[in-house]
Amino acid sequence: MPAVITNDWDAQGYACNARFVSDLGIAVVDLLAPQPGETILDLGCGDGALTANMAALGVQVTAIDSSESMVAAAAKLGLNVQLADMHQFDLGSSFDAVFTNAVLHWTRDIDAVVACVAKHLSPGGRFVGEFGGFGNVAAIVTAVRASLALEGAPPTKFSWYYPTPEEFSTVLENAGFQVVSARLIPRPTPLPAGMAGWLTTFARPFAGHLAAEAQKRVLARAEELLAASLCDRSGAWTADYVRLRFHAVLS
Ligand code: BEZ
Repeated sequence: MPAVITNDWDAQGYACNARFVSDLGIAVVDLLAPQPGETILDLGCGDGALTANMAALGVQVTAIDSSESMVAAAAKLGLNVQLADMHQFDLGSSFDAVFTNAVLHWTRDIDAVVACVAKHLSPGGRFVGEFGGFGNVAAIVTAVRASLALEGAPPTKFSWYYPTPEEFSTVLENAGFQVVSARLIPRPTPLPAGMAGWLTTFARPFAGHLAAEAQKRVLARAEELLAASLCDRSGAWTADYVRLRFHAVLS
């Protein structure tokens, strides 16, 4: 059964329940193809696992994240990391590239984020990343919403930002980027800590406002609803992830 969800990101819980996020992000680092000596901004670095990977390639990497717990975890790795909100940051410098993994779907205003990114790049600078795309975790979201309704809880207004490549390309183009590629990648993702671990780490926006006992019921019921589609006969869970991977260049 899922534990009660906590408020800010818990870097330790994230490492246990969601280490796959940075492990799978290596492919995005490959798409960025960072060169030694380049200056790169890691937008939403989490606990810094991928930032450290880029630093080890000889990149001068600066990282930002809006979670104090994550910034502290990344700083422990010796990384150059600052607390900042992706919607409004000004680092007073520009970079050869901006990299982002598994972060943009948390935005409440994608135009603001992309405008900030553009401000930190010179013409020709790359913006490369990946996040949840159209249809991402659709089964999970539907089960959590159904479970909230069964609990009699008011429907939540929260939703993640999961655009189609066409929608997101328009956002990039409006901010002055040329889109090199933007595509959806269906990626059923094994959950080492099961659905309970995933819900405990990520379901806060849907159930965090409920009392502890109600949260437990809502998440446990969501897990039950999902078992038929996302849990195999051996008890192994898979999340219905769909990524939107993109590469854009500032004109
Ligand atoms: C994602 O990486 O797709 C994701 C992470 C947390 C919550 C929802 C989606």
